[in-house]
Amino acid sequence: MRVLQVGDAASRRAALKEAAELLRAGGLVAFPTETVYGLGAHALDERAVERIYEAKGRPSLNPLIVHVASTQLARELALDWTEAAEAVARAFWPGPVTLVVRKRDIIPDIVTAGLNTVGLRVPAHPVALALLDEAAIPVAAPSANRSTHVSPTTAQHVVRGLGDAVDLVLDGGPTTVGIESTVVDVTGRVPRILRPGMIARDAIARVAGAAELATAMMAHDKPQSPGMLGRHYAPRARVRLFRSSEREHALEEARAAIEQRQRVCAMVFAALDLPAADEHIMPSTPDAYARVLYATLHALDEARYDVVFVERPPDTPEWMAVADRLGRAAI
Ligand code: TXA
Ligand code: MG
Repeated sequence: MRVLQVGDAASRRAALKEAAELLRAGGLVAFPTETVYGLGAHALDERAVERIYEAKGRPSLNPLIVHVASTQLARELALDWTEAAEAVARAFWPGPVTLVVRKRDIIPDIVTAGLNTVGLRVPAHPVALALLDEAAIPVAAPSANRSTHVSPTTAQHVVRGLGDAVDLVLDGGPTTVGIESTVVDVTGRVPRILRPGMIARDAIARVAGAAELATAMMAHDKPQSPGMLGRHYAPRARVRLFRSSEREHALEEARAAIEQRQRVCAMVFAALDLPAADEHIMPSTPDAYARVLYATLHALDEARYDVVFVERPPDTPEWMAVADRLGRAAI
């Protein structure tokens, strides 16, 4: 596996050319997006897409997101492009939103795990967009981590997690959003959120028209997005979530764990003042928290903690996506 820097303009051009050629030839290229690093392959090449599932150890029933350089290219992959699709795309693309639409036959079943819909996204990252432009093909790309592990927000995370399973990594530095895109099903009249992200439910509902505000639903009843099942985004350490009102109790539990010689750390909004434990003071706004969340979890993995005590964020809509990821890390 090779890592190429894409920091300055000159090195970027050569790296992008090589990466685009690799993709067209069926190779696996990890690249930065504004959310997390993606593990890209030619979306119309079944064998290339198979390699993604192998590299990630991902169950083949979990569909992939197809990345394209423009809304126009996205429309060409959709069987029908609904008003809701157009409204959400116009408002948020390029950006951290994935639209689930009915797919055209040109997209192989392996990409969508046999579903008749496909997730499409135009990412808002100059490297990702330039790569898609240069390759001139749709690129299937899940997060560039082993299945169920924490998603990568730096090239180093990708290297450590996937090693030689990937042919090339484009290093564009740390990602800015930090958690995965909001996945929105726009096959019907009313958009439905399948996976929360930093583009919040209310923002999606707003662009879909005021009349829809009341009905734009979180699909809580049954998991609509296969990737939302069970344990996910999980570090090796056991994650113990607690509410701010339970700090005293968490502190006692943590002390007991330390007495039992467990390696303990905390991710909190204010220090617990634990003796013999590392504490990460986390940002107090959702955007800033999301940006550092996965890097913090990766650091805990590196340091081989046994248990991490995590203070839950406030139970408000703007924290929904962060709370969702913490909840899945704790399963
Ligand atoms: O921010 C992101 O979305 C990143 C970057 C690389 O773009 N990608 C990402 O991909 O998070 P992945 O494969 O880790 O997650 C894709 C999610 C899964 O929850 C999957 O089930 C859902 O999108 N998904 C994809 N296609 C779908 C479809 N046709 N119907 C329902 N859910 C779908
Ligand atoms: Mg993922």
